[in-house]
Amino acid sequence: MAGFFDKLKEKISAVNDSFEKYREAKDAAEEIKDNVDEIREDAGKIKEEAAERKKQREEKEETARKAAAEAESPVMREIKKKAAALNKTIVLCEGEDARVVMAAADATAQGIAKIILLGDPEQIAKDNPAVDLAGVTVIDPAKSAKRAEYAALLYSLRKAKGMTEEEAEKLSYDNTYFGVLMLKAGDADGLVSGACHSTANTLRPGLQIVKAAPGVPLVSSYFLMVAPAAGNQYCEDGAFIYSDCGLNENPTSEQLAEIAIMSAKTAEQIAGMQPRVAMLSFSTKGSAKHADIDKVTAALAMAKEKAPELNIDGELQLDAAIVPSVAKSKAPGSKVAGHANVLIFPDLDAGNIGYKLTERLGGFQAVGPLCQGFAKPINDLSRGCKSDDVVAAVAITALQTQIK
Ligand SMILES: CC(C)(COP(=O)(O)OP(=O)(O)OC[C@H]1O[C@@H](n2cnc3c(N)ncnc32)[C@H](O)[C@@H]1OP(=O)(O)O)[C@@H](O)C(=O)NCCC(=O)NCCS
Repeated sequence: MAGFFDKLKEKISAVNDSFEKYREAKDAAEEIKDNVDEIREDAGKIKEEAAERKKQREEKEETARKAAAEAESPVMREIKKKAAALNKTIVLCEGEDARVVMAAADATAQGIAKIILLGDPEQIAKDNPAVDLAGVTVIDPAKSAKRAEYAALLYSLRKAKGMTEEEAEKLSYDNTYFGVLMLKAGDADGLVSGACHSTANTLRPGLQIVKAAPGVPLVSSYFLMVAPAAGNQYCEDGAFIYSDCGLNENPTSEQLAEIAIMSAKTAEQIAGMQPRVAMLSFSTKGSAKHADIDKVTAALAMAKEKAPELNIDGELQLDAAIVPSVAKSKAPGSKVAGHANVLIFPDLDAGNIGYKLTERLGGFQAVGPLCQGFAKPINDLSRGCKSDDVVAAVAITALQTQIK
């Protein structure tokens, strides 16, 4: 009998233990459920906050874009209007750069051109979730059905220069080469690159494949220097053309003359200016003597001979070129001095430093380096460019398709 009760006690105690464990497990489950609910609530809040932050960021970007559009100079507004009427197809090679992706969307939304953006579409969408790329054609060179055709085109164009089929095949995967080959094949009207590549690497494929237009001895570069919205006392036309600030390191007199003539054409046909061309130097009308000055005066004589109708003068220091009071004393009687709007720098040191000073200290927008003289429009960008500069370069590239 005692054994029976002992067993019964044991069983009751085991049931009690199980019940206790059950209660503990139930409490734990309830605690876990409470925690899960809390986590869900927190996650919901985080999601809501993230959505609110995204909305605020997008609103800020939209406000900034509207403000930029309102502050836009009349020169740039006119360029964009003319570009839009042409409806050209422009390739942007750098889908890996957020500024370029934003510019692709903006240029499309503003109707400036039909944009082809090069890069991996999935990666671009992943890296730029807030950018609406509706209307932009995204092409991944690696997956393009045309890549092999472009590789064959590249080989045929460069084999005489020693390029092998293997090298051409490899280069056809490179976005810049691919874009330039699209241009050469007639699959696009113009190209803009260089937001995240050096000028040399951006322009070399173009120089090798598209080359200078027939009869043009060299390709050169220029910046469209757009005055700040509040204006600038030395900038009568709202913008200057600066050349060559990006491509030819140390042009000869013949090349400088050519750069001056081409830049005048650019000022007229792209920026709608009446060109007044100043051949810049550290001397004004013989105030100093040096071989570098002789190079400029020789270039002036050549430009005048080649284009007698050109409104050009030199050699002029910068102040004599753009400040009327200084021009009066240093270059009296000059039709250009004091009012120049096309500034030709004697070499790349002067040009490159000059445009950056104007941009950074003078608050001008520096659009470029843009190119003149290519058989089809190819333009570089400064690696310090903003998305708006890329949009501006797209518009100018479209206009360049019309330069004769
Ligand atoms: C653009 C640049 C790379 C070209 O020079 P390069 O590398 O020596 O190029 P190459 O001599 O190999 O020339 C390549 C082709 O371009 C042609 N070319 C080079 N410069 C040219 C020009 N200004 N106009 C027309 N064709 C040109 C060459 O004749 C050559 O043609 P080919 O191969 O069919 O014979 C060079 O001028 C450069 O580095 N410039 C300075 C860029 C820079 O750093 N700018 C500052 C920052 S904005």
